[in-house]
Amino acid sequence: MALKEDWADLWIKSMLAAGGTFRMQLTLGCVLIFLTSVSCSGLAPRSLKLEYCVSFWAKKITCYWNPLLDMGPETTYRLHITEEAGRCQMDFGHTRSCAATQGGSACSVPVENLFAFYKINLTAESRGIQVSAPEMCIHGMSIVKLSAPEVSIAEANKSRCFYLEWNIPGDEVLSVLETEYEIQFRDVAETSWMQVNLTLSENAPGFANICHVAPFTNYSVRVRAKYLHEVSFAISGGRPPWSDWSGERFVRTLPEVPSTGPALWRKLGHSDGYGNRVVVLMWKPLTPKEANGEILGYSLHSQKRGEPAMLQCFTPNLQCSLLLPAREEFTFFVVATNMVGMSPPTKLVVPPSGGQEALLSPLPILVSPAGDHSLLLRWPLPSNPVTVYIFEWGQLPAKEGRDISWHYQPASVGHALITEAIKPGKLYELKVFTLVDGKIWASGSTSAYSKQIAPLRAPTLYPVRVWKSRVELQWEILPLEERGGVIRNYTVFYKKEGDNEHTAVVLDSSVHGYLIEGLAPSSAVTVFITVANDGGSTDGPVLTIHTKDSDYGETEILSSVLCVGFLFILLAGSLACLWKHQLLRKYLWPPIPDPAKSNLATWAPQKCVW
Ligand SMILES: *[C@@H]1O[C@H](CO)[C@@H](O)[C@H](O)[C@H]1NC(C)=O
Ligand SMILES: *[C@@H]1O[C@H](CO)[C@@H](O)[C@H](O)[C@H]1NC(C)=O
Ligand SMILES: *[C@@H]1O[C@H](CO)[C@@H](O)[C@H](O)[C@H]1NC(C)=O
Ligand SMILES: *[C@@H]1O[C@H](CO)[C@@H](O)[C@H](O)[C@H]1NC(C)=O
Repeated sequence: MALKEDWADLWIKSMLAAGGTFRMQLTLGCVLIFLTSVSCSGLAPRSLKLEYCVSFWAKKITCYWNPLLDMGPETTYRLHITEEAGRCQMDFGHTRSCAATQGGSACSVPVENLFAFYKINLTAESRGIQVSAPEMCIHGMSIVKLSAPEVSIAEANKSRCFYLEWNIPGDEVLSVLETEYEIQFRDVAETSWMQVNLTLSENAPGFANICHVAPFTNYSVRVRAKYLHEVSFAISGGRPPWSDWSGERFVRTLPEVPSTGPALWRKLGHSDGYGNRVVVLMWKPLTPKEANGEILGYSLHSQKRGEPAMLQCFTPNLQCSLLLPAREEFTFFVVATNMVGMSPPTKLVVPPSGGQEALLSPLPILVSPAGDHSLLLRWPLPSNPVTVYIFEWGQLPAKEGRDISWHYQPASVGHALITEAIKPGKLYELKVFTLVDGKIWASGSTSAYSKQIAPLRAPTLYPVRVWKSRVELQWEILPLEERGGVIRNYTVFYKKEGDNEHTAVVLDSSVHGYLIEGLAPSSAVTVFITVANDGGSTDGPVLTIHTKDSDYGETEILSSVLCVGFLFILLAGSLACLWKHQLLRKYLWPPIPDPAKSNLATWAPQKCVW
């Protein structure tokens, strides 16, 4: 390589030195002569080298090399192999050869006997230029590549172990003592292999007991072999290569009892008229690494203070619903059962209803969005010996029967990422509980959006009072579900008759009314409202309101409104007034509903002119 760079350097320098065409031709000629003499004397533009050779019991030797790129694709490679007497002191047999073309990088030559040294030569030839690799002298037995082993037995007959047996086909080794093995295995659910290196100490079929593996796990196993050559061969240069890997075999290890109990939590109902309440006990399935076998079912026991535990449920499901006295404390235990046995129990104490929550130490939680569909919760690690965290979340407003999700997290971390049942534009209430020995010890709560989106609609806008030159507007408070985020501001747009542009007034989110002044009597004003949160803004429909021609007596609604919503409110308002009218009330609605309980009543105008 260094030599070649020197030539390039020399050549460029010569070119620079060459002033005229004649001198240039002369220089080129010199370089060509130089190159030819170099190739004749055995030096090459790139050195050709035999990478390695392997021999097979089927009596052949295969050698590999890297094709020379700068000699072009038409290069022919020729491998010559000659059996030797002694350590390549004298040719013993005929030279046999094989050839590879078109960038080939290996070829094989048949041999009579592997128990001999071989002289190996490689040449490359292209357009009359020939390059040779340095000669090698290798003992046939020092480069033996065995056939891939065949695994005959792969079975699990001992806890956390599996047993393997294999052989090398075709009598390639007289004794397994002449071989070295590598066994690789992996959990089929994972990608990386674990390896055991092995040489056997007795002459039997190849076998191994692989232990300290996980229970009830499907392992994929493979084996490869290497001929153990004698030391005298080693100094002859070659090293036996590994055989190819055997085919993969699968073995499932034996099950064991579940290593841990399922995470347990509860959902509490309100107490009924008889002092009972529904308590739903819920648990999470074990991971395969915890279950150690197929889970057949879960059993739930309940225990009152000072009484023996009672079996409440045995079920394959993940919850069990009980009706229990609300004023008593219960301790629950859940265990998971597989074909081998039962997990340790998980304990949860449910205190009597009322009063308990207030006694708990508060736990401050920080919540931040971690994507459109996830929230990151963080809380300080308590100094007490906390065993587990439970957190639960559900959409706000908290309606009866809403879906609550929960998650269990072992101690020693102060954060959790929740991704289940989280949607953008919804407000979630989040609660964290710390449990020590099944008892709630601290809790905290907060609320958050994973992502704010524009409000689903604008609030309904309506005029409450209309004068000659003024209009008083109000708008509803949007229900939480429709806000899409935290409302920041409202913008009221209005346009007087004859104006070209709307006037915009931005109002704080706490304001729900606005007075438009300076209007002409008997004129039309068009209005609409826009509501904005950090996720965007939403426009409402346009209303047209007519001012009165004169102000007399009490203020009243006499506007013509092109909004169905307003007409509806007006109607509702009128109905509320009718209620007050004793005579009519008697004839129209003999069973009287309480107007104070109607939502519409709150929207009614303050006074009605009849
Ligand atoms: C497992 O089976 C193999 C053969 O099937 C046997 O040689 C080995 O002793 C067995 N191991 C145990 C622990 O039973
Ligand atoms: C087995 O041999 C390989 C290759 O020599 C080596 O990298 C590995 O560490 C060995 N593994 C063990 C478990 O000894
Ligand atoms: C183990 O996994 C392999 C590959 O996924 C599958 O073909 C085989 O059936 C599994 N064996 C058992 C016992 O589950
Ligand atoms: C109204 O609130 C939105 C959302 O936070 C904000 O982008 C916008 O600038 C606010 N408008 C005014 C005038 O403050």
